[in-house]
Amino acid sequence: MTQQPAPQRVVIFDTTLRDGEQSPGFSMNLQEKLELAHQLARLGVDVIEAGFPITSPGDFEAVHAIAGQVHGPVICALARAVEKDILRAGEALAPAARKRIHTFIATSNIHVEKKLRMSREQVIETAFNAVKLARSFTDDVEFSCEDAGRTDWDYIVAVLTAAIEAGATTLNVPDTVGYTVPEQFGQCIRYVREHTPGIENCIISVHCHNDLGHAVANSLAGVRNGARQIECTINGIGERAGNTSLEEAVMMLHVRKDYWGLETGIRTEEIYRTSRLLSRITGVRVQPNKAIVGANAFAHEAGIHQDGVIKERTTYEIMHPADVGWLGEGMVMGKHSGRAALAARLEQLGIKGLSPEDITAAYERFKKLCDQKKTVYDEDLLAIVEDQVSLQRAIYRLVDLEASTSMRGGPRVRVAIAVGDAGEQHEALCTEGDGQVDALYRALDQLTPHTIKLLEYGIESVTEGKDALGRVMVKMNIDGDEVRGTGVATDVIVASAHAYLNALNRFEMLKEISERAASTATP
Ligand code: KIV
Ligand code: ZN
Repeated sequence: MTQQPAPQRVVIFDTTLRDGEQSPGFSMNLQEKLELAHQLARLGVDVIEAGFPITSPGDFEAVHAIAGQVHGPVICALARAVEKDILRAGEALAPAARKRIHTFIATSNIHVEKKLRMSREQVIETAFNAVKLARSFTDDVEFSCEDAGRTDWDYIVAVLTAAIEAGATTLNVPDTVGYTVPEQFGQCIRYVREHTPGIENCIISVHCHNDLGHAVANSLAGVRNGARQIECTINGIGERAGNTSLEEAVMMLHVRKDYWGLETGIRTEEIYRTSRLLSRITGVRVQPNKAIVGANAFAHEAGIHQDGVIKERTTYEIMHPADVGWLGEGMVMGKHSGRAALAARLEQLGIKGLSPEDITAAYERFKKLCDQKKTVYDEDLLAIVEDQVSLQRAIYRLVDLEASTSMRGGPRVRVAIAVGDAGEQHEALCTEGDGQVDALYRALDQLTPHTIKLLEYGIESVTEGKDALGRVMVKMNIDGDEVRGTGVATDVIVASAHAYLNALNRFEMLKEISERAASTATP
C-alpha cells in the first residue's frame, strides 16, 4: 500500500488529568483540574484528555466543566467500548467547541481471554460498534487497542481496520504495561502503518507506560516509524510507574530537531511552570534529578563543570534553562521592596490573576520573610504565594502555635486554629508524643471531627542556606480517604502545621465537590 509522507507536526495529547489523575496520590478536585487544564492550554497541548466520565460523578463534572471553560485544545473524554460509557462521555463533552471521544478495548490474548472473556471476533465487532456510536457525537474519534504492546501485530491490524471502517480518526497503540523494547515497538508501529488499509488518512498515536523506564524511548521509536501523536503527562505521572513524560518527549524533539525534523505546538517556556503547578496541586514533588524539570536539571556542582559553564555555557548545557521557563535562583527583592514591586515580580514569574487580598497577604508574609532570611529568591516568593493562596481559601487556619521540647520532659505543643468564615477559634494542648511534630499532630487531631492517620511526612528546603524556607509535605488518611498537603515556613514546626491543615482543607473541599456532584448527577 502506498504511504503518504508523515506530516512534520507531532500532536501532543496530554492525559495528566485522566491517566495521571487516576493513579494513587494524584487526585484533584474540580477547581484544581480546571486550573491545570487552563495551564495545559497555555502550554499549547493539542488535546486534553480531561477524564473518564463513567467512572464517577466527579469525573463527569470535571470533563463537563473543562469542556465548557477551557478553550484552544481539543477536549477529550475516555470511554470503554461500552454503550453507557460512550453516552456519558458524549454528554460530558457537550459544551466543548472541539471534542473527541476516546474509546478502547483490550486486544492481547491475556486480556481478551481472561478479562473480557470474549472471542477475538467479538472484540472486533465491539470496537466497530463503539466507534460508530462515538461518531454520532463527534467527527473526532480515537480508538485504542489496550495492551497492544502484548498483542500480535496482525490482530492489531484487524481491530484497527474495523475501527477505521467505523470512522475512527486517531488510532492509538498503547504499551499499557510498559513491556516493549524501543526497536520492537517501533517495528510494531511500522507494521501497523504499512498493513492497515485506510490508516494513511488517520493519525497513529502512541501511549506508553514506564514500567521498565522506557516510556519516552518507546514513544519516540513509535514517532520514528510514523506515529504522529504522543500521549503523555506532566512530570510523567500515571498508572504505576507512570506514562511518557511530556516535557522529556517534547524537549527531545525540540533540542534534537536536527535529528527528528519534527515540530510540536508546545510553548516550551511554559513547561517548568506547568510542572510546578501540578506538584503544588497534588503535593507530590518531582525527584531532584528528573530530566528537564527536576531541581538539579540545570545545576552544575562539579568544579570542572562550573568552570566550563562560566567560560562557555554550551560546554555542559544542551538547552538553555529559560527554554523551559526555568526561573533560576536570582536574588530578586529585599525588605525595601514595596507591594507593587512584589505584584510586578509575581506577574513576571507567571503568577497571574491574584486578588488584591491574596497580594496583600502574600506581601505581609514576604516582609516577615525578609526579616527572617538574608536572601529572598524567586523560589521563596513562589512558595509563599502558593501557600498563601491555599490558606486564603481555607476552612481551617493556623492562628497560633507554641512548641518546645526537652530531653527529659518530652514535647509540649499548644496550637490554636480558626475555623470557617466566622473564624471561630479552638485551642488544644498536647504534652506527649514522639517529638514536636507528633505532639503537634496529636493536638490538631483533637480539634477536628475526623479520624486522621498520618501516612507520610517529608521535608525539604525550598532554597539553600540555614535560613531557608522549609516545605513540609504530608499524606494523611482522613475518614478513609488519602489526601496530601503541603506547608511552607522558615520554622519547620509551623510548616508542619500548615501542611496538616492544608490536607484537611483539601479533604473538606473534595468532600464538598463530590457531594455537589452527587446531588446534580443524572441517573
Ligand atoms: O494504558 C492504556 O492502555 C490506557 C488506554 C485507555 C489508552 O490508558
Ligand atoms: Zn495508560
